Amino acid sequence: MSYDLFRAEIDDGFPRLERLFEQAKQDFWNDSTAIDWSQPLTLGPDERRAMAKILSLIYYGERAALEVSAQLVPLVDDEQAKFVLACQVIEEAKHVSAFRRLLKKLDDIHPANPWVRRVLTDLVETKHASYKLVGMQLIVENIANQLFHIIHDHVEDPLIRKVLEYVGRDEKKHTGLAVLYLPKILKKVGFVESHMLWAKQIYWTFCVSQAIWDHRREAAALGIDIQQGLRKGIAAQDHLVEQMGIRRGIFKSKTLEGIVLKMYDRDRKKRGSWTPHPSGTSSRS
Ligand SMILES: [Fe+2]
Ligand SMILES: [Fe+2]
Repeated sequence: MSYDLFRAEIDDGFPRLERLFEQAKQDFWNDSTAIDWSQPLTLGPDERRAMAKILSLIYYGERAALEVSAQLVPLVDDEQAKFVLACQVIEEAKHVSAFRRLLKKLDDIHPANPWVRRVLTDLVETKHASYKLVGMQLIVENIANQLFHIIHDHVEDPLIRKVLEYVGRDEKKHTGLAVLYLPKILKKVGFVESHMLWAKQIYWTFCVSQAIWDHRREAAALGIDIQQGLRKGIAAQDHLVEQMGIRRGIFKSKTLEGIVLKMYDRDRKKRGSWTPHPSGTSSRS
């Protein structure tokens, strides 16, 4: 690590990260008081269980994001990146706390899906800042963010929507960190590490896609087309990469989309078709 704790100079190489730090401080919210936890849920018992299963996926992701963002503070060299990551640590702690409350109110915290367990374990255990930033900030945070939007658009429960609004606003800043800081990290990635990073992205995307596929019935019960959600997630990831302006070690979204869609087509043939429940009472569709 080249970080010199005792240098006298002030880091100012990342003014946009400084602005993101300011934004994070302005957006600070208290999950205990910002949300009225006494309000009743408006979902039926089946929908509550389906929602709890899907949000349990998110819950373990939030826990991993808390670990990974804390691990990244000493792994990055630039002070302004550390500022943003330090804000992310407290934000992820609030997300874990908020989902813990919401899941207990909905139904229960369901055991971790094996595919989610694989990808999150990998991201927590890797020693590479580049893997953590690409895997967590760019892939997992982005997919979670897309899921929040889709659930928010389909489920009218005020409590769930309020939680997703607060958490989603923070998650946008976390993918923002990837856009602003990953280019510097990726420029330093060598030949071997960049190829390992490609292989890892296939593995992580496959795991995330499998985990989401495993929840297709719960999603359908809530009127959500999860395959479309995943497609949107990949498109959003491509948009983030475009803003980064560097592709070293990063897969093109078309490649990822091809992998994901092939897998879905294969499973669809094997296990039969599935569509969102047309009479889902919480659905607008
Ligand atoms: Fe989070
Ligand atoms: Fe996050």
